[in-house]
Amino acid sequence: MPVISIENLEKRFNLEAGFFAPLGRFVRAVRGISFAIGKNEAYGLVGESGCGKTTTARLMVRMYEWDKGSIRYGDGADVAALSGPALKAYREKVRYIFQDPARSLNPRMTVGEVLISGYRHASRFPGEGEARKEAERILTEVGLSPEDREKRPSEFSGGQRQRISIARGLLMRPELLICDEVVSALDVSIQGQILNLLLDIREKRGLSFLFIAHDLRVACYFCDRIGVMYRGELMEEGPAENLYRDALHPYTRLLFSSVSGSRDSVLPAGGGNVDTDGPRCPFAPRCVLAEERCFAEHPELRDLGQGRRVRCFRAAE
Ligand SMILES: Nc1ncnc2c1ncn2[C@@H]1O[C@H](COP(=O)(O)OP(=O)(O)O)[C@@H](O)[C@H]1O
Ligand code: SF4
Ligand SMILES: [Mg+2]
Repeated sequence: MPVISIENLEKRFNLEAGFFAPLGRFVRAVRGISFAIGKNEAYGLVGESGCGKTTTARLMVRMYEWDKGSIRYGDGADVAALSGPALKAYREKVRYIFQDPARSLNPRMTVGEVLISGYRHASRFPGEGEARKEAERILTEVGLSPEDREKRPSEFSGGQRQRISIARGLLMRPELLICDEVVSALDVSIQGQILNLLLDIREKRGLSFLFIAHDLRVACYFCDRIGVMYRGELMEEGPAENLYRDALHPYTRLLFSSVSGSRDSVLPAGGGNVDTDGPRCPFAPRCVLAEERCFAEHPELRDLGQGRRVRCFRAAE
């Protein structure tokens, strides 16, 4: 039984929102994606900047409403139907760690306040004294010290601020932690430390993860399974070790072959998700294997068995 399952999820943003704006110009940020995450599983969502990873994560915590599809949690609860205390409880179980700790940690608060301010409204807030003790324990768990709760976020390095964000997420005792590019802005050696911390936490707490990254190698290091996204769609999905050894989709192979260490998109821009395409493979303009059919038909995500799915006419030919 998966912890969470996403079925045919779609999200469009109106490019020119406003009363007099012409209708019909949309960014199709997420185009019918489906995946599920099991208990204690780490699922990676990978793809270059703008492919729809953050939108997917935000839909999962109901920061936006979606246009089509469904998200089901636990024993099948329809996340779209949650409201009031049930929605609050869901948001405690599914925690989203933001991409950018510099912006998400209030600089005027001490670390202790940062940790406890959200927790105070939680359904199981244990009171100020006990919450402070829990915050101190969690600071130790993420490799900081209890005294750090008196300091302000600006007194810490990028890696340490990411540890504070992780601590804040853990305080709610989530079941699923969504980590959105949590190591992307960090130097490689610091990335390793944070990834190892997340591995420890996962082992100790039996958590499930949605791990978002644009670096496929980083995702393969941390995750059990990976979904590769391109322009809002899943292009390939499979166990991390299989993807690493023999990626089937030309885009996945391109991601592996591109220079690592780049902080931003490692590839030339994919043209965004603006919906001007006719039916074709979204990757066709960049694909070395493209043939006529690829410009005339949209490939389905084919199930190849053994947990592998691929959206390509020519993969595993
Ligand atoms: N709030 C928004 N309003 C309009 N367009 C958005 C919004 N959020 C994301 N987008 C667009 O949706 C697409 C996917 O963005 P995003 O999910 O942030 O991608 P990623 O996290 O993979 O970089 C991009 O084209 C982006 O510009
Ligand atoms: S369907 Fe065609 S264009 Fe698309 S990835 Fe496969 S070979 Fe390339
Ligand atoms: Mg993003």
